[in-house]
Amino acid sequence: LSGKIIVDTSFTLSEVDPRLFGSFIEHLGRAVYGGIYDPDHPTADAQGFRGDVIELVKKLDVPLIRYPGGNFVSGYRWEDGVGPKTERPSRLDLAWRSIEPNQIGTNEFMDWARKVGAEVNLAVNLGTRGIEAAQSLIEYCNHPSGTYWSDLRRSHGYPEPHNIKVWSLGNEMDGRWQIGHKTAHEYGRLASETGRVMKWVDPSIELVVCGSSNSRMPSYPDWEASVLMEAYDEVDYIALHNYYGNEDDNILEYMAQSEDMDHYIQTVIATCDFVQAKKRSKKQINIAFDEWNVWFHSNEADKKQEPWTIGPPILQDRYTLEDAVLIGELLITLLKHADRVKIACLAQLVNVIAPIMTEPGKGAWAQTIYYPFLHASRYGRGTVLRTPLEASSYESVTFGAVSYLTAIAVYNEQEGALTLFAVNRSPEKSMELSCDLRSFEGFMPADHIILDGPDPKAYNSADQQNVVPRRGTLPAWENGRCSVILSPLSWNVLRFS
Ligand code: AHR
Repeated sequence: LSGKIIVDTSFTLSEVDPRLFGSFIEHLGRAVYGGIYDPDHPTADAQGFRGDVIELVKKLDVPLIRYPGGNFVSGYRWEDGVGPKTERPSRLDLAWRSIEPNQIGTNEFMDWARKVGAEVNLAVNLGTRGIEAAQSLIEYCNHPSGTYWSDLRRSHGYPEPHNIKVWSLGNEMDGRWQIGHKTAHEYGRLASETGRVMKWVDPSIELVVCGSSNSRMPSYPDWEASVLMEAYDEVDYIALHNYYGNEDDNILEYMAQSEDMDHYIQTVIATCDFVQAKKRSKKQINIAFDEWNVWFHSNEADKKQEPWTIGPPILQDRYTLEDAVLIGELLITLLKHADRVKIACLAQLVNVIAPIMTEPGKGAWAQTIYYPFLHASRYGRGTVLRTPLEASSYESVTFGAVSYLTAIAVYNEQEGALTLFAVNRSPEKSMELSCDLRSFEGFMPADHIILDGPDPKAYNSADQQNVVPRRGTLPAWENGRCSVILSPLSWNVLRFS
């Protein structure tokens, strides 16, 4: 196979908002209990947070973490999770048919987020609750002192406000599975009224309104248009969610699924701009793709899970090499839309459809998908350059002609470094990629990081890291041009400086 790309500093798309490399922790499965929090683990700190998990999260340099749900938030009483731990109630969590002991709540999570160097995107419950609970929560978190809720926070040992900047107005309210699910009109009205009150409490916040739960929802994209017609003036971002999977075990169709993410983003941008035009508004709504990942491996096992336990082992997808390559493609797709996608959250972060896994008593370990996310987060900050490409293509049943190559370049002027992220979708053939980096005079190839391997189904475990990045030999460089071999089914990070 062959491919060709041109990278030129004259063709900039946008600065990358670092929040594109956000993630998500929900009270779900073993994400919190047995994941980030395990007071019995040898690496646990004084608050019971696992030190080895903190280290793996810190390496990913995740700037924003969504919390506490997800479906969980639509039945959550935030007051249950603050104050003396011994007085906190255990509750049924109807979203995941588990028991929520409330030993971790807003304050503890803010502490944990500080430890990993992240800001929090806090979701309010618009399923069973509404304006009043959202108002008291933001007053508890962000108001300095002198009112009932802010003084309650102080009495709980937090004299300084948390100053949370990004807030989510509920979760997946279009889905029948959601506690308190609503029509677009009902939700749009509630989101708008709640958002207005929250901004009265703290005008510096940014609000994310729920879009569709995925692009297959029957109400998509009417949902987006109707919700925005109600809430346009109050909100700043619209949320997109989507999960991908290889249920049919067809690798080329699977590798084409990033095309779906691309169409989905384009459609929602068009819908936002349509509503902007209808409203004669000067304001632009941007995108928070605040749940994205591969999720299908654990579905069957989860049907057999006993209900009503604390921290059940559910949604524990074990990721393969092919999943990691698709995650690389999805990261490239998000970067390609960096002009409008300002927030994205890999869902999730620990144990639940996650790059980081823990076993009781054992060390934390990295799944295959940890690596492309690490590379994108580390090297994908700067300016996205429009990266025209030409390459051999194949016919996908779902998406028509699909290029074997997908790639994007990010230029970090401050560091004097150019990074090219590239995926070869072919499971069988390598690709010779010609790179024309005409405007990068004085640059040289500096690194070629590759995630590949002979077995697309290879995965990692607590005892064995079978899928880890390797280094390729640097290509010959002449007059700003080089030619690189992309091995079959590979994620590639080419660095020039
Ligand atoms: O991330 C897992 C679940 O997926 C979330 O709780 C929900 O929002 C989505 O359906």
